[in-house]
Amino acid sequence: MGVEICVEGLTKSFGHQVIWQDVSLTLPAGEVSVMLGPSGTGKSVFLKTLVGLLKPERGSVKIAGRDITRLREHDLHEVRKLFGVLFQDGALFGSMNLYDNIAFPLREHTRKSESEIRRIVLEKMDMVGLIGAEEKLPGEISGGMRKRAGLARALVLDPEIILFDEPDSGLDPVRVAYLNQLIVDLNAQIDATFLIVTHDIASARQVPDNIGLLFRRELVMFGPREELLTSEEPVVRQFLNGRMQGPIGMAEEKDAAQVEQELAALGDGGGKGTRSPGSQTLTPRLLPGPGIHRPPRWEAIARREAALHQETVVDA
Ligand SMILES: Nc1ncnc2c1ncn2[C@@H]1O[C@H](COP(=O)(O)OP(=O)(O)O)[C@@H](O)[C@H]1O
Ligand SMILES: [Mg+2]
Repeated sequence: MGVEICVEGLTKSFGHQVIWQDVSLTLPAGEVSVMLGPSGTGKSVFLKTLVGLLKPERGSVKIAGRDITRLREHDLHEVRKLFGVLFQDGALFGSMNLYDNIAFPLREHTRKSESEIRRIVLEKMDMVGLIGAEEKLPGEISGGMRKRAGLARALVLDPEIILFDEPDSGLDPVRVAYLNQLIVDLNAQIDATFLIVTHDIASARQVPDNIGLLFRRELVMFGPREELLTSEEPVVRQFLNGRMQGPIGMAEEKDAAQVEQELAALGDGGGKGTRSPGSQTLTPRLLPGPGIHRPPRWEAIARREAALHQETVVDA
């Protein structure tokens, strides 16, 4: 069914370096959320904190009512079984073929028989379109296939939550489109809670129910995709439109006067007043492919409606 993850007041530092502070958000059960942010803003650190691999200095991460930041190693181990994680590079063992890679968590964490393992592995390989590639080594296949193999491995323990760390990195736009469709289809099929870290704007526009943006050690915004895609907040607008003009600079931040000038030139008026044409277009959401049905999620629909009605003008 998927479980809700409730993050409150989360702060993470390494030594004196604060990575992000006071992050609060709720990942609704069964929905797809995307976390955006420039490189180095701590998106991977955020995912690792959610699974309890890194300890935050402050705040809580409640999963099924339990604060995982306070669990002891034994209980944490149990909670981690709720998660499937697709790491950036797929994190496959180079010397094992795809079948053994995907079977690995089952052999490690369960006492299932080899015939049962075989049924599960082939089912997951089928879900990600890898049937026939069982004997291949990770080094012999394309980057896109490696991501899908990593995804199949993340699926074998039937996770309630799947975390994706830049699933689109290193893939060409066509492969990214296929992967996005696969993610949407999987979400409809297994109904787990998904969190995808990416800086691909096209994916962020099409795939999720919710979008968050990390910038300058803060969670700038988190909410239904419609809310962020139509937001007037300068950082959110700059990032979602992939523009140079705005508060986000090449190295880090720009001074306020320069930002003001750039936004004025664009007609943004620093977030108020007139809009540059076309910048607020709501990209249609990717739907699950034919034959994949899921019941309507009324809560998500209600939140989306509320977000849309807050806006005065929304382009169709
Ligand atoms: N284990 C660690 N120890 C110390 N610093 C770390 C560690 N992991 C990440 N960092 C630092 O945290 C910052 C954010 O890293 P990361 O989460 O990888 O960013 P992103 O995924 O958004 O590109 C970086 O400055 C990185 O050097
Ligand atoms: Mg990262």
